[in-house]
Amino acid sequence: MEYMRLAVTDRCNLRCFYCMPHEGMEFVPRKELLSYEEMLRLTRIMVELGVKKVRITGGEPFVRKNMYGFLKRLAAIDGLEQVNITTNGAVADRHIPFLKEIGINTINLSLDTLDKERYEAITRRDFFASAMSTYHAVLAAGMELKVNMVVMADKNKEDIIPMAMLTKNDPVNIRFIEEMPFNGTGARDTEFMDHRQILAHLKQHLPPMVPIPREKSTTANNYRIAGHRGSIGIIAAWSRTFCGGCNRIRVTATGQLKNCLYDTGVLNLKRLLADGSSDTMIKEAIGQAYRQKLTDGFAAEKHRQGRVTESMSSIGG
Ligand code: GTP
Ligand code: 5AD
Ligand code: SF4
Repeated sequence: MEYMRLAVTDRCNLRCFYCMPHEGMEFVPRKELLSYEEMLRLTRIMVELGVKKVRITGGEPFVRKNMYGFLKRLAAIDGLEQVNITTNGAVADRHIPFLKEIGINTINLSLDTLDKERYEAITRRDFFASAMSTYHAVLAAGMELKVNMVVMADKNKEDIIPMAMLTKNDPVNIRFIEEMPFNGTGARDTEFMDHRQILAHLKQHLPPMVPIPREKSTTANNYRIAGHRGSIGIIAAWSRTFCGGCNRIRVTATGQLKNCLYDTGVLNLKRLLADGSSDTMIKEAIGQAYRQKLTDGFAAEKHRQGRVTESMSSIGG
């Protein structure tokens, strides 16, 4: 348990169709979210339990008020080696230098297309220029940039190669992700492309791709093309080929602890953080919950009540 994904909100300024329905999303009342104080305390406890890296997710993290003050305090926690953020970039561009200043070195940017019209069709919002501006701001600041593109054959297949070609001139890691049915309905009405099909498509259209040896706990299989400054990754999020090295724990915006993306929650941290429990008691409860972690995402899915239907924004990705 070295990597905690902490969702700071379930709200978002986009409406990506693979994540939530067009309308009718019911976001949780603000008082049910973990407060910043609770998240800071929880993070200190997690660091004592072995967490070295925290990824801030949402919804969209930057729609929560006063995020920047919170991030500054979070990044200053003793023993926490890395704070990373996954964002859609819609409002983050002008704050990138500040993030760098407080020691945040890596941004994962969700961007599913390089075409403005397709961007609006996928996200149902008009933020393409801002997302691209965040892309350039992160590179200009000399920070590490990963781009997450959820691949759907009938929506953005034509973007795969142009997106991969960004690696020629930019020192960026472009990651192609299998779509998961975490869209609020559970039904997939797009054409699925699995990691093998994505790789075959890339190989068919690009110069030779050389595999980069994988780090044990990463989600992506990465490749390099000779002469390119960046790299290309494929994330088998639905095929779940990487569970063996899983070192993750998740906390949703309402404080549910999740051992796996595919489980429905194993501990109510919000209650523990509010009911006077000591840090020692909370640590014990987390340890006990974590020991129930199943072998992989298929076991977690099989064990859950009901099939996958929730919105990714309520899980934290
Ligand atoms: P790094 O920390 O940079 O390696 O990023 P990450 O892949 O852990 O996180 P990110 O938020 O960028 O997520 C990229 C994609 O991987 C998203 O579609 C996530 O839902 C998916 N993903 C992240 N963690 C897991 C995981 O533990 N299991 C599965 N199945 N998918 C995951
Ligand atoms: N399937 C796969 N990835 C998804 N993301 C959001 N919804 C889905 C989904 N249904 C990705 C976003 C973001 C990351 C946290 O999760 O692109 O970058
Ligand atoms: Fe870990 Fe579950 Fe993701 Fe597999 S699917 S890597 S077990 S969180």
